[in-house]
Amino acid sequence: MDFELTEEQKMIQQAARDFAQRDLITDVIERDTKAEFPTQHVKKLAELGFLGMLTGVKYDGGGMDTVSYVLAMEEISKIDSSVAVIMSVNNSLVNHGLEHYCTEAQKEKYLKPLARGEVIGAFLLSEPEAGSDATSQRTTAEDKGDYYLVNGTKNWITNANSASTYILIAQTHPELKHKGINALIVEKNSPGITLGPHEDKMGMRSSDTHSVMFNDVKVPKENRIGEDGFGFKFAMKTLEGGRIGIAAQALGIASGAYERALKYSKERKAFGTEIFNHQSVCFKLAEMAIRIEAARLLTLKAAWLKDQEQPYGTASAMAKYWAAETAMWVTTEAVQIHGGYGYVKEYHVERLMREAKLTQIYEGTSEIQKIIVGRAICDQA
Ligand code: CAA
Repeated sequence: MDFELTEEQKMIQQAARDFAQRDLITDVIERDTKAEFPTQHVKKLAELGFLGMLTGVKYDGGGMDTVSYVLAMEEISKIDSSVAVIMSVNNSLVNHGLEHYCTEAQKEKYLKPLARGEVIGAFLLSEPEAGSDATSQRTTAEDKGDYYLVNGTKNWITNANSASTYILIAQTHPELKHKGINALIVEKNSPGITLGPHEDKMGMRSSDTHSVMFNDVKVPKENRIGEDGFGFKFAMKTLEGGRIGIAAQALGIASGAYERALKYSKERKAFGTEIFNHQSVCFKLAEMAIRIEAARLLTLKAAWLKDQEQPYGTASAMAKYWAAETAMWVTTEAVQIHGGYGYVKEYHVERLMREAKLTQIYEGTSEIQKIIVGRAICDQA
């Protein structure tokens, strides 16, 4: 077993670290406060090749491996998860599905501009009554011969406003339940699409999240992904990779909070010594380091399995579960170590704590990850 990173992986990690520590840090608090979309930073993500890093060179992507993606996501999420989630949705939920399940014509038209970072994408699965229970899709894509007529509402959509390309999951044959669901590529500027207001979120406030309403939207038949009824499997396969991105994001949030708490504990004095020297603080930091390392190993293993083209669905659910729980625990303890300073914006850890919460919720709650892992271990028994 080789835990050493390659020179290329180290370079990608360093490039992401430089971008985060030099650029993102400058206005992260202000953007979070104002819930302002990071337009300039997304441009830089594109220049660095991070928006299409997982896509093959043949389709104008960076052709990088998933391990590198995890390393980059961790570095960016240490500073700014709003930017990281834009990168994660683009790579994992949009580009990956287009590259692996679409026709050459679809790739030419939609994947290449996404992989070059000229446009960004969004993944529209969740609905007001279908979040965890993803088979219960109410949005309909009625088969009208040479097009689908789409009606319904999608909720909590990351990149809803900033994206140009949507991957939409909708029901065509309700009598077939999940086997009647389709995945469609939809252009955001199609007539009949409207957006709800920007969601005033607890954390990751500078990424744009909206509901999206479809009112008699016509989507050409040639924009369907795969065979008729492939949409649910497509969504599930896509989320397997998405969860590696969110695990890496949660890992970054946890390690960002840990690094800040460690630094603070060596500077802050109480009862005549740096607080690091108090066992109550030192033990917390030790436990943070242990939990984070376990999250890192699980996340890198899931990434490595994906790179080896081995099954990675259970591994990505385990990684996402543990990294999200770790992020929540570590950020809460980091606020505690900072005391009153931890509760104000300047020290960043309160924001990291708010961001951590979302990693336990989106791309499948922690409970969903346990369902996936539970079913896998039952099947093995
Ligand atoms: N790969 C391929 N096929 C899969 C699969 C996978 N990983 N998981 C399930 N399937 C297939 C099953 O084999 C089954 O197919 P057959 O009928 O042919 O046998 C079919 O899909 C139905 O599977 P289940 O019976 O297991 O379905 P279920 O209703 O019990 O649900 C679930 C399974 C894992 C709980 C699923 O509903 C799920 O993942 N829910 C969470 C959805 C989610 O993550 N939502 C987040 C939204 S996206 C988001 O947050 C994006 C963002 O903006 C950041």
